[in-house]
Amino acid sequence: MSRLQAEHLYKVFGRRPEDAVRKLEAGESRDELRAEGTTAAVIDASIEVDEGQIFVVMGLSGSGKSTLLRMLNGLLEPTAGTVRIDGQDLTSLSDKELRKVRSEKISMVFQHFALFPHRSVLENAAYGLEVQGVPRAERTRRATEALELTGLKGWEKSWPDELSGGMQQRVGLARALATDADLLLMDESFSALDPLIRRDMQDQLLELQKTLKKTIVFITHDLNEAMRLGDRIAVMRDGRIVQTGSAEDILVTPANDYVASFTQDVDRTRVLTAGAIMAEVGTVLGATTPEGHKLTTAAEFRAAAPATVGVDTPLFELFTPCSTSTVPVAVTDEHGDLVGAVAAERLLAVLGEPARQDTAGVPAQGGDGTAVPPGKTTAADAPAGHEPEDKVIAGA
Ligand SMILES: Nc1ncnc2c1ncn2[C@@H]1O[C@H](COP(=O)(O)OP(=O)(O)OP(=O)(O)O)[C@@H](O)[C@H]1O
Ligand SMILES: [Mg+2]
Repeated sequence: MSRLQAEHLYKVFGRRPEDAVRKLEAGESRDELRAEGTTAAVIDASIEVDEGQIFVVMGLSGSGKSTLLRMLNGLLEPTAGTVRIDGQDLTSLSDKELRKVRSEKISMVFQHFALFPHRSVLENAAYGLEVQGVPRAERTRRATEALELTGLKGWEKSWPDELSGGMQQRVGLARALATDADLLLMDESFSALDPLIRRDMQDQLLELQKTLKKTIVFITHDLNEAMRLGDRIAVMRDGRIVQTGSAEDILVTPANDYVASFTQDVDRTRVLTAGAIMAEVGTVLGATTPEGHKLTTAAEFRAAAPATVGVDTPLFELFTPCSTSTVPVAVTDEHGDLVGAVAAERLLAVLGEPARQDTAGVPAQGGDGTAVPPGKTTAADAPAGHEPEDKVIAGA
């Protein structure tokens, strides 16, 4: 079940916000509204976050990320639309009920985490528990545990100003982890950190997540960070979510040129996996190797393949095997069953020229008009002369 769900959320700042929503629904643009003095910060945004997922919201400065997040935790009331946490509509709650949901279920970690300068690191980490009225002995125990989880064991008695920026940010994370709240909302939590420390924090979050399995909404303007952390990623532009998908979806089938231009600097070889670009095994069968062996069965293909890799293998690990043989690399699932093949041409094509779509939200089309999921090649993708009937795997 989804833990957190937002449907058709709008937030308009300025005069007569409800009128502005009606105008937006009727097709008026954000710029036209701005000329009238109102800011449409979030426009018709819908998201669904499943239990245990890291859901990343990515977008440039001013695209509406923080406003969206503040509606998700009930700090800002939506101009229109609904937010549900565990099926409960936040707008239907009284202020008191809302505060209870916020303190019991939700933890926030901000970009510049404000620590109390005259409280020790331990007291800072225990602050959320103190607000919840947890007795001192228990909050000390839980805050100590959370500090250990975030790599701050031994710093409990220090003062915040004795810590580096990265360590202070860890105290913020520890404070969020110390409470039982399992919905973690993180707004640019690592953005103020040096690149190496930032990477370290990302690794640590992924590591913690393996055991803690919190449900996390993570906001960032950095696509590489989004791709490293996100099980799902929503890309925002000018208040709207323009695409939601996995890192692979966004790289392989960007919804429009805007998303495609965003993804240009991403290292595809580390984000994309064999499973995302593989062709069906059937596309290889019937082919003849340069040595003259006909590959009629899956077993023959597997024996002739230069390597067998798992579906999660990143593409950079496929270059060496692909360069040593003209037979495609075999791809297996988690049970070791053969599920696909990656040929060198496919590997190069995916890296050289990301698929683009002209219309937002319309999936890539096969020749017959059927949608082509990522990883499935169409007849049009096959290299020239690669006839399905009598295939020959070209020699090097
Ligand atoms: N309280 C407010 N009153 C008026 N306008 C606001 C308010 N909060 C946000 N906005 C406007 O809404 C738009 C979206 O702001 P928001 O802070 O959500 O963007 P963001 O994506 O989080 O940006 P950043 O990456 O810089 O944090 C901006 O144009 C901003 O000026
Ligand atoms: Mg923001």
